[in-house]
Order: sequence, then structure tokens, then C-alpha cells
Amino acid sequence: MMHNQEPDRREFLSAASALAAGASLAGPEPRPNRGPEILIRRPHPAVVASHNAFPHCTEAAMKAILAGKPVVDAVVEGVTLVENDPEDHSVGLGGIPNEEGVVELDASVMDGASGLSGAVASIRNIKNPASVALRVLRYTDHCLLVGEGALRFAKAHGFKEEELLTDDAREIWLYWKGNLSSSDKWFAKDLDQLPAGAKKWLTTTGTVNCCGVDRNGQLAGTTTTSGLAFKIPGRVGDSPIVGAGLYVDNDAGAAGSTGRGEANIISCGSLIVVEAMRRGAHPTDACKEAAERIVRLTKAKHLLDARGRPTFNVNFYAVDKQGRTGGFAIKRKDTYAVFDEKGNRQVPLDSVFAD
Ligand code: GLY
Repeated sequence: MMHNQEPDRREFLSAASALAAGASLAGPEPRPNRGPEILIRRPHPAVVASHNAFPHCTEAAMKAILAGKPVVDAVVEGVTLVENDPEDHSVGLGGIPNEEGVVELDASVMDGASGLSGAVASIRNIKNPASVALRVLRYTDHCLLVGEGALRFAKAHGFKEEELLTDDAREIWLYWKGNLSSSDKWFAKDLDQLPAGAKKWLTTTGTVNCCGVDRNGQLAGTTTTSGLAFKIPGRVGDSPIVGAGLYVDNDAGAAGSTGRGEANIISCGSLIVVEAMRRGAHPTDACKEAAERIVRLTKAKHLLDARGRPTFNVNFYAVDKQGRTGGFAIKRKDTYAVFDEKGNRQVPLDSVFAD
């Protein structure tokens, strides 16, 4: 599938007239129609994110962009809402813990304007790792702090330690632990005794990614997660790894991902997406290239199903410098979130495999 790399004239004019009609996303007045000049593209603000960012995260990020805040602050403001939500067990407060019942969080931010990144990995007891990652970007000469050092750094910046394992997440972890083996001494409750909606968190790995561009073409992104459910303590996924779970280049675009981090680290997925956008690919086609690369690189038997397809999923999301957005997955099951001149909405994710 190829996406138009240039907006067609009618599409552009209709977007331009919507903007000129005073939509809040408008930048400077569009040029009057003076023939081919009208086709000169200018950036429009846009936010693209994983499905769990809809609607509040994308709305907060867009509001902050329209208020003139740096895009990197805007996207972090957005994902903070998801990190603070105890019902979202993929990130921050209420995240699914590691195999010992301890919540360990990973996050990164990348800022196109400065070309800097910041990240934390395996940080405990701090519910907003994306904000800590932003402090690493702004107030250190480093890119990544881990574990105890990341926690000390966060506390030095005034972040408060708290228990991140909620009762619901603890019940889910206990159920997993009780079903690990029939020859240990742990028994599990029945599945129907778990909190409502708990079942999906036994099999789902989640993360929130949010990238944005403002009307000046400044790009930034952030990815934040509690990582793989019931992971080995100290396991770090793709979310804090620049080039894997997030990549931003102000000349090209911003991209991030959710799903099996190990596959994304091996394939440098978000870098692949941004490099494809640099060559002129539409963000959706760029995301498709990264998803197909993961499929191609997945060869280990334990990661392949009976049809020789990956047993796991990875989703990519991207926005380019003009404000075009896109996403692509290995398997079709999710939507992603977009806020642009057409509004705040969910969009189905195309995928390498349809079933
Ligand atoms: N993509 C999130 C993780 O694997 O940790």
C-alpha cells in the first residue's frame, strides 16, 4: 500500500479552508490561491499515540502544543495522565509488576528541537518516569539512568516515592504466580474472582507512546511503560532505548512503538520508521517497513507459531514534519490515536497479517 506523499490539490485546499475558517489548529493565514504556490506544504500541529492515549492524553498534548509549549513538554503532559491512571495496568501507577511483584518502569523522551534524549529504566516507586526522563534530558549530560541511580536522581528532583502496586495489579500478579506450577505451594484464586477486566492483563503487554509536531515543524515524543508483565527483575524493554521504542529527528519525523520490546530492540524499529520518513515515505508506509522488518528478523522457533508467524505483536506510530500521521502493526487488533486538523480520534491499525 502506498500513501500519497503529497496532498492532492483538493485535499490541501479543503484542509487549508478549514484552517482559515478559524479552526484552533490554524497557523498563520494560508496564502491566497496564486496557482501552484498553494501546494507549498507547511506543518500543521498533530499528535499520534497508542490506543490507550485516547482521548485524554492526546487532548492534553494537543492543548499544550496549541498553547505554545515545547512539544516535548506537551507529550509528557499527555502521557502523565495515563501514568497516573490506576486502571491502565501497562504504565505508571497500577502497572503490572515483575515476577517478584515489584513494579519497575521504563520511559524515554526525545526532543527534535535540541536533538537530545533522556531516559530511565527499571525505576521503582516513581509513578511518572516520563517526567523523570525529561529531567535527564534537561538537567544531565546523560541519555539513560537505570535502577537505583534513576530513583536517586528522581528524588533529588523532588519526585516522591510511593507504592505503585495497586490491589488490582497485585491480584493479577498473584493469579499468575499461583498458576506457574502445580508442584509449588502457591494456589491461585479462580479467574472469576479477579477484579473486573483483569483477564486481559494476563496476556497483554501495554505501553503508552505519544509523539507530536507543532505548527513550526518542531517534533518530539515519549514512550513510557511498566514493561513486560511478570518480567525478570531488571529486564529493560524497548521503551527507554532511543532508536527502538522511540526516535525523533527534527528533519524527518517522530516515531514510537508498543508491543514486544525485545523484537523492537533487535530491529531498531523506531529508527527504521524515521529513516523511511526521511526518504519521503508516508508515516504509515514507514511504520509498515519497520513491522515487516521485525517479521523478517524473527527466526527463533519459540517466537513463531505453526504458520511461521511471530507469536507476538508490535505496533508503530509516527508523525512527520508536515503533520501527517500513521501507524502499522504486525497483527491486526488495535487502533491508534490521532489528534490533528480532523479532530481527536481513533484510527484502525493496518497490519502485516490480517488474521
Ligand atoms: N514495549 C514495552 C516493553 O516491551 O517493555
